[in-house]
Amino acid sequence: MRLSESADGTGPVAIIVRVDGDEAVERLHQGLIELSRVEEVRCCRYAGGWLLTACGVANADPDPLLRTVGAVVDQFDSKAEVIDVRRGASELPAGEEGFRLSERFMVTGGNAAVDASTIRLDAAHVFGTGAHASTKLAVQAMEEVAGREEGFPARALDVGTGSGILALVAARLGGAHVLGIDICEEALAVAWRNILANGLRGQVSLASTPLAELTERYGMVIANVTASVLLRLAEGIVNRLESGGWLIVSGLQGRQGEEMEEALSLYGLQTVARYADGKWRCLTLRYLPTV
Ligand SMILES: C[S@@+](CC[C@H](N)C(=O)[O-])C[C@H]1O[C@@H](n2cnc3c(N)ncnc32)[C@H](O)[C@@H]1O
Repeated sequence: MRLSESADGTGPVAIIVRVDGDEAVERLHQGLIELSRVEEVRCCRYAGGWLLTACGVANADPDPLLRTVGAVVDQFDSKAEVIDVRRGASELPAGEEGFRLSERFMVTGGNAAVDASTIRLDAAHVFGTGAHASTKLAVQAMEEVAGREEGFPARALDVGTGSGILALVAARLGGAHVLGIDICEEALAVAWRNILANGLRGQVSLASTPLAELTERYGMVIANVTASVLLRLAEGIVNRLESGGWLIVSGLQGRQGEEMEEALSLYGLQTVARYADGKWRCLTLRYLPTV
């Protein structure tokens, strides 16, 4: 079992265990709580069964925790299975009860019903549970564009779609043609399941096409990727923006926010809004080319 990279690479290690059956979940929960390396055990309903999340202490080596949790889980044979190991308690999957993504949206897991203010999501092993600050800031920025007089653009591009969460939000906010791209095939498979689960296949499509090979232009491009990826993709992103189009960039940390503003201004992008949550930064920019 590999340790999934979280966006910040710090925080407590979380071992996520799928469990079948109410009796098994109770006994396993008790067994995990008693482990000295486990700080907290969370429990939620998930896809007809349960998810238990055993959290260790911040910055600890994941291996000893995984060994002790794995030994308890093995006693349950096929009724329980370790399905993921993550760094960062904020990146835990949603249960059916869900959590708040933004002022407007809730994220729910499992088979919860969907409506105009719900995103049903199973991020599986890929990025984009909706719990990370960089995703939440991007959603806030998208909602603010949607609240403007001209409304949300009809055509939007989500670069690095992961689970598809931001593409789904774009569609719910009014994007009629939303394209999500990612270099990770697994992410695209997960995102496709999420599009179907939210009834948005008519509005959202996916591609593994590299950004540089896209030819259409968009009224909004959203990119929640690291600063280094963003700098590499900057020119390609600008080439996909309509004149007057919006660019929302998230996943920046600390001073990277200001540095990115400076770098993007050279392409004719003007900063319209800045968002921050702890060390995380997000920007809304508008493409206003001079010629
Ligand atoms: C931090 S995740 C964001 C996931 C989701 N959009 C969210 O906001 O929660 C970044 C995603 O970008 C993808 N990615 C990285 N480099 C990329 C590139 N050059 N082109 C497209 N996707 C890329 C990764 O595979 C990953 O799924």
